[in-house]
Amino acid sequence: MKAIVQDNYGPADVLDLRDIDRPAIGDDEVLVQVRAAGVDPGVWIFMAGRPYLVRLAAGLRRPRVAVRGRDLAGVVTAVGARVTRFRPGDEVYGTCLGGSYAEFASAPAQRLAGKPANLSFAQAAAVPVSGMTALRAVRDCGAVRPGHRVLVIGASGGVGSLAVQIAKAYGATVTGVCAPARTEFVRSLGADDVLDYTDEEIDRDGPVYDVVIDTGGDRPLALLRRALTPRGTLALVGGAYARGRLLGGYGRQMFRAPLLSLFVGQRLRTVSAVERNEDLDELRELIESGALTPAIDRTYPLAEAADALRHFTDGHPAGKVVVTI
Ligand SMILES: NC(=O)c1ccc[n+]([C@@H]2O[C@H](COP(=O)([O-])OP(=O)(O)OC[C@H]3O[C@@H](n4cnc5c(N)ncnc54)[C@H](OP(=O)(O)O)[C@@H]3O)[C@@H](O)[C@H]2O)c1
Repeated sequence: MKAIVQDNYGPADVLDLRDIDRPAIGDDEVLVQVRAAGVDPGVWIFMAGRPYLVRLAAGLRRPRVAVRGRDLAGVVTAVGARVTRFRPGDEVYGTCLGGSYAEFASAPAQRLAGKPANLSFAQAAAVPVSGMTALRAVRDCGAVRPGHRVLVIGASGGVGSLAVQIAKAYGATVTGVCAPARTEFVRSLGADDVLDYTDEEIDRDGPVYDVVIDTGGDRPLALLRRALTPRGTLALVGGAYARGRLLGGYGRQMFRAPLLSLFVGQRLRTVSAVERNEDLDELRELIESGALTPAIDRTYPLAEAADALRHFTDGHPAGKVVVTI
């Protein structure tokens, strides 16, 4: 099969289209003919091997898993001996561990769910990683309820564009923070108000937000807390991941926020997405009800996956970038 493979860590130039063997499947796994695969910061991080901390898991000198890609949408072609929920021909979406920028991918059955019926494969592939993260930020970390005021920083990005819509579906009044070129896009997602990050800072209105979901930039915790009500919740998804070599921008959420949270009235929480079919099922319900629609900035054919990564990091996409196969 054709797949996007890398031998070494580095920029998008390390990605190469090659013929490799189809992956084997274990008893609890499913073989999927991949029709589309999403691009997200995790793909960049495992491609670049940065921040360096990631190499402890991904391989010290070179990537242990050579094929890139995590999100996928496609058609089941075979199932392992213990898989009862899927059969060949089913259309699915979810995540895989062995790389989805390929004609076939093996995925644990518990990381897959039925594809939303009203989405194309490309749209469905835009959802899993970003959608499960956004859901966790809104539902679990933020505990968003009707009437809450929610601020989404990075509202035009992969996680943010879905978090805006999910927070609206949970009954919140939402303000999105984005660049001036993206204000109309963020309003079109349902945001009640938009803040242009080149012109205004997030504490413009004082401590008014019950929940702040931060997916972009690298604002200090003190500034983020100034936008929160005294008992509000900060849900730190990430930001500035390409900046620091050792920790990326993650020191804020890995160390400083959990420590500070012990001493202040606000809850400072780190969002950590758990990839599981229950959340994919909830996302499918939101999508099929019309409350959630993934936005796709651009699609690229498999052979141009490196360009997809370049556009993702340099092109300031509105929503998601997707590789189609
Ligand atoms: N915790 C988890 O489990 C988990 C899972 C997925 C992702 N993440 C992390 O979450 C972060 C976002 O992921 P993503 O897929 O949404 O990335 P993305 O698509 O690149 O979105 C990031 C967004 O942040 C915006 N941004 C940049 N600087 C900003 C600033 N100063 N103020 C406000 N917004 C700013 C960008 O807007 P411009 O285009 O204008 O620059 C972009 O829209 C990454 O750090 C990623 O590693 C964490």
